Amino acid sequence: MSERVFVRVARVADVPKGRTLEVNAGSRNVLLCHTREGWFAVDNVCTHAQAKLSEGRLRKTKLICPLHGGAFDCRTGAAIGAPAVLPLATYPVRVTGEDVEIAPGEPPAGA
Ligand code: FES
Repeated sequence: MSERVFVRVARVADVPKGRTLEVNAGSRNVLLCHTREGWFAVDNVCTHAQAKLSEGRLRKTKLICPLHGGAFDCRTGAAIGAPAVLPLATYPVRVTGEDVEIAPGEPPAGA
């Protein structure tokens, strides 16, 4: 079993609560979500038709796609609103001091 490798993707101050930030980590385009429940990271590309979720909205822990209004739970990646059906990949997030780090090499949750 491989050890998680975390990489710094943002400063805590870069992403106020209730906001998101598109980041690149390795080859992955990831959406960092700062919610009241904590930090979460999911693929930034909608599983329905490839829209960038960074151009959508975050409402509590619900990510809303800008193209057709599909919705995802940013905590789990689960699709919770049509027409999105397939889940988003999720990535571990940790805060170290003032840095926000993710582990982009982790396999998608549930894989
Ligand atoms: S592209 Fe996201 S719901 Fe269609």
